[in-house]
Amino acid sequence: MRVGQGGSGPGARTPDGSAIEMYEQAVAHGEDELIDAAIQPGSSILELGCGTGRITRPLLARGHQVVAVDESVEMIARVPETETIQATIGELRLDREFDVVLMMSYLINVADDAERLRLLQTCAHHVRPGGSVLLQQQLPSQLAKPVVRESERGRMEISDVEHLPGNQVAATVTHTIGGRSWSQRLLTQNLTEELLAGQLTEAGLRLDEYLTPDTSWVRARPVAT
Ligand SMILES: C[S@@+](CC[C@H](N)C(=O)[O-])C[C@H]1O[C@@H](n2cnc3c(N)ncnc32)[C@H](O)[C@@H]1O
Repeated sequence: MRVGQGGSGPGARTPDGSAIEMYEQAVAHGEDELIDAAIQPGSSILELGCGTGRITRPLLARGHQVVAVDESVEMIARVPETETIQATIGELRLDREFDVVLMMSYLINVADDAERLRLLQTCAHHVRPGGSVLLQQQLPSQLAKPVVRESERGRMEISDVEHLPGNQVAATVTHTIGGRSWSQRLLTQNLTEELLAGQLTEAGLRLDEYLTPDTSWVRARPVAT
């Protein structure tokens, strides 16, 4: 487990505390539609942190070619529909470029500036000139306070919220689906535009636009060389 991250509940989990059996049951909530609208038809996509392929499969169904990366063998074993690579994102260096590098699920909100820079350098290394790096970032409102949300699919609770120096937030997120519960302790960092833009520049990228008015989806592009 990484520092500040951990989890409990049935089945195996990844080094970041994600429960494999929980993600197996998770469905897309429109993310594939948003991504598809932001990129060219038939794009080649490198998806970093693909998990069980929750978004990989819908993107394939929309006609894109996806290479799916995750450090968890158990996660990528759930994505037989496409090429997968088992790797830690910060260390991934393929000799290939893609139209789109996708890194969602708030991986960019890792509470370690050096690790965040490594993630962005991996994005920059794999995007073709003129291509897009699509990032999903956490909003400050998301883990701000304890919350319980119920839906027909189950229950989600945010508890034990700690606001820490440097825009960092620790919280426990518990999902209950079909009578089974998984808890994950998260340590995240909300990013100011200044910090994100600065780290993108350091990685050889530039903040191009927000894809959503709430700024949660970001497009970055490689700086022309
Ligand atoms: C919260 S899950 C989300 C999975 C998927 N993106 C989704 O939306 O369903 C995060 C995934 O990213 C992977 N992950 C997190 N940090 C990683 C890293 N540094 N390198 C490789 N995989 C990572 C985890 O193993 C896990 O499968």
